Amino acid sequence: MGKHFQILKLDATDSTNLYLRDLLRSENPLDYTVVVAEKQLKGRGQMGAVWQSKGGKNLTFSVLKIFYALSVQHQFVLNIAVSLAVIDALNEFSVPNVKVKWPNDIMSGSMKICGILIENVLKGDKVGHSIIGIGLNVNQTDFAELDKASSLKAITGHDFNLDELLQMILERIRFHFEGIEGKTVPQLLPAYEKELFRKDKPSTFTDVHGEMFMGYIRRVSPSGKLVLELEDKVFKEFDLKEVSLLY
Ligand code: BTN
Repeated sequence: MGKHFQILKLDATDSTNLYLRDLLRSENPLDYTVVVAEKQLKGRGQMGAVWQSKGGKNLTFSVLKIFYALSVQHQFVLNIAVSLAVIDALNEFSVPNVKVKWPNDIMSGSMKICGILIENVLKGDKVGHSIIGIGLNVNQTDFAELDKASSLKAITGHDFNLDELLQMILERIRFHFEGIEGKTVPQLLPAYEKELFRKDKPSTFTDVHGEMFMGYIRRVSPSGKLVLELEDKVFKEFDLKEVSLLY
């Protein structure tokens, strides 16, 4: 029941997710081991993207979570728990209008301020452990070509203490992970859907071919897919690779 986290602080590394992955090969890191880097040389985003973050200005860290009985079909509970943890923490710091853009981009208004990369290592039909990577834009104010990116400072006008933010996020992660192996996606969905970006608003999407279409985000399926209502009350489920929201 220790309230503390084993925190490894690095000046620089390629990616904190990769650092944790390598650590798991050579050592037996404790549950909730955290790796924080001042600077990532090869920060990784979802679907092979890169994660850019100015050294020393932001939070880039990964958390190891070990599981014993989390089945693969329920793995979206992790996206929910981590998203809600980050949202809670940002609300504690009075960041305005925080929402989650499915599956786990954290927005303030219509700007992305935080990205989450969850990498699950499977053992048969169970999730053995997860490496949860979080990149939160904090005190960086210049995002050059990234027109949808912003930071806590760009939005609120003031600097934030990185260690205080990190502690708050870790505490909220621990809280949302309490008993998670006994929970199902449908049990957690109401809390998640309440925080969903552009839910029930007419929105434009693109499909895999780059074709645009209109729809409404209505809910998330038990397997974690995004359920859109299209024309004529037709509902359709989408995977992360199959759809992107234009905003
Ligand atoms: C995304 O929005 O595409 C996910 C970005 C995740 C970035 C974080 S920063 C810490 C951890 N290490 C990485 O290389 N990526 C994640």
